[in-house]
Amino acid sequence: MIESIYSPAANRYDGVMQYRRSGKSGILMSALSLGFWHNFGSISNFANCKAMIHCAFDNGITCYDLANNYGPTYGTAEETFGRLMDVSMRPYRDEMFITTKAGYDMWPGPYGDFGSRKYLMSSLDQSLKRMHLDYVDLFYSHRFDPNTPLEETCQALVDIVRAGKALYAGISNYPDEAARFAYDYLKAHDVPCLCHQIKRNMIVRNDSALETAADCNVGVVAFSPLAQGLLTNRYLNGIPADSRMARREALTEDSLTPELMSQIRALQQIADERGESLAQMALAWVLHRKEVTSVIIGTSSVAQMKDNLKVLESQPFSDEQLARIDSVLNA
Ligand SMILES: NC(=O)c1ccc[n+]([C@@H]2O[C@H](COP(=O)([O-])OP(=O)(O)OC[C@H]3O[C@@H](n4cnc5c(N)ncnc54)[C@H](OP(=O)(O)O)[C@@H]3O)[C@@H](O)[C@H]2O)c1
Repeated sequence: MIESIYSPAANRYDGVMQYRRSGKSGILMSALSLGFWHNFGSISNFANCKAMIHCAFDNGITCYDLANNYGPTYGTAEETFGRLMDVSMRPYRDEMFITTKAGYDMWPGPYGDFGSRKYLMSSLDQSLKRMHLDYVDLFYSHRFDPNTPLEETCQALVDIVRAGKALYAGISNYPDEAARFAYDYLKAHDVPCLCHQIKRNMIVRNDSALETAADCNVGVVAFSPLAQGLLTNRYLNGIPADSRMARREALTEDSLTPELMSQIRALQQIADERGESLAQMALAWVLHRKEVTSVIIGTSSVAQMKDNLKVLESQPFSDEQLARIDSVLNA
């Protein structure tokens, strides 16, 4: 069967999606980014992957977040991305802001993990091959390595940018002091850190990382805004067979404690009063802080993505609603 050529929505930049500046850089990121951690690997249905990236692009999402080991299995999310570029997205490369990372375990032996120059350089070369790209827009050191001099990791990021393999450099999951060091080092070497990617949702907040980045004019990209699906209606009536928890990938049944379930129900009630889904409210909560440049969503269907895109219509929070959310979560 001959597939029809993808033709993106003509109104994709019609003012619904917000674009936020990353720190004091020249880069605007879409308020929502699409993440490839779980739903784009070799076990995922390619037609569904294609429908999701088209839905994202049609709705003004310009930012696509990958890492070397996203899948499952490792590397296969980048391979899917390469296929998506080949089948439909290549004409829009310059409208896309594509990121990848290295820092967690990727291949066996001493050079496939953490933060050495050897690992970061060879991993990015592998990623570019899998993604069928000449360069990525942003390359991240995925985590702080306590055993590698931070100068070495940061210099590798500088050299990657100077080699034209990435246009910008960023860090992810760094403790505060190391983040400040990286911001200073990168700035001193004329490759200012574009953003810090951190976990941020109503439950896990990482306020100090947010404030440190803002203090240093660095953007903040938030991941797991829905706590991997816990901050949605997904688990209110058991564990759906097609869920991340049922697949036991990074989210397990023991997280559904009675206390958490009652908190989720209380949050659901606040979302009902606001006239939105819990997922929408959870995303709105992350986006309400102006320091947040973009929130990375990880969806397993177009229906979830459409639900999440409705956050762009969310009303601002009242002080009373924010206080109730804090009180439900003992924050
Ligand atoms: N830098 C890092 O270390 C790091 C770490 C983690 C993630 N990330 C990035 O951040 C991205 C997002 O992380 P995440 O996947 O944990 O994000 P998340 O948005 O917290 O969770 C995504 C999951 O929530 C469920 N979901 C999404 N929208 C929903 C909706 N409207 N209603 C009900 N359920 C919904 C889906 O679960 P089901 O699959 O069960 O349907 C989906 O797979 C990743 O893809 C990755 O790019 C980075």
